[in-house]
Amino acid sequence: MNKMTKEERRIIEQIRTEVFSIMKEDSSGHDSTHIERVWRMARRIAEIEECDQFVVEVASLLHDLEDPKLAFRDKHQVATILKKYDISMERSQHILEMIASMSFSSHQKGYRVTTIEGMIVQDADRMDALGAIGIARTFAYGGSKHRPIYQGQDDDDSSIAHFYLKLLRLHSLMNLESSKAIAQERTNRMIQFLDWFHEEWQDDTLIQKTTGGNEQ
Ligand code: NI
Repeated sequence: MNKMTKEERRIIEQIRTEVFSIMKEDSSGHDSTHIERVWRMARRIAEIEECDQFVVEVASLLHDLEDPKLAFRDKHQVATILKKYDISMERSQHILEMIASMSFSSHQKGYRVTTIEGMIVQDADRMDALGAIGIARTFAYGGSKHRPIYQGQDDDDSSIAHFYLKLLRLHSLMNLESSKAIAQERTNRMIQFLDWFHEEWQDDTLIQKTTGGNEQ
């Protein structure tokens, strides 16, 4: 069931086009396809939760525009867009607060999303950091920041260490029941990938396995 008016749907389409054109050139894993996936996932969750669907959709489209770690970042872009489409003060305030408190770094600083709309968008964004897509995005982001793939340690600034320091913990931070099962499945895929990665890294094990009992 779509809970939005015709006018609200029209605004969503316009914001979507605008955001996609800003983000399409990104190569750090935060391109317009990330926004498209977060938006679609947030919409799916919003349909089964009691919430302001319009706020969920707008926030999911705008959530990365002011991220300090991204190249296209512009400090006042979210507020500018909210104003341009004449979104009410109350909804605008809510969207700005959600976006400011939903990142993993905000979480580490003690910020928490407090509304159902914030929980939905945060879960949808976290979901896109997991699974096969999460793996692809992790290395794209690492490359964009000149980070090594791996240096033999699980707690430094390599892309592999990022799985242990952040990504494998995300599923336990999911807000909603409906997100937890998907997040767990995607986490299992990353664990499988890391097992393979370490196996190939230690290729002694691999050689033993592939040559089997022939070495006598
Ligand atoms: Ni994001």
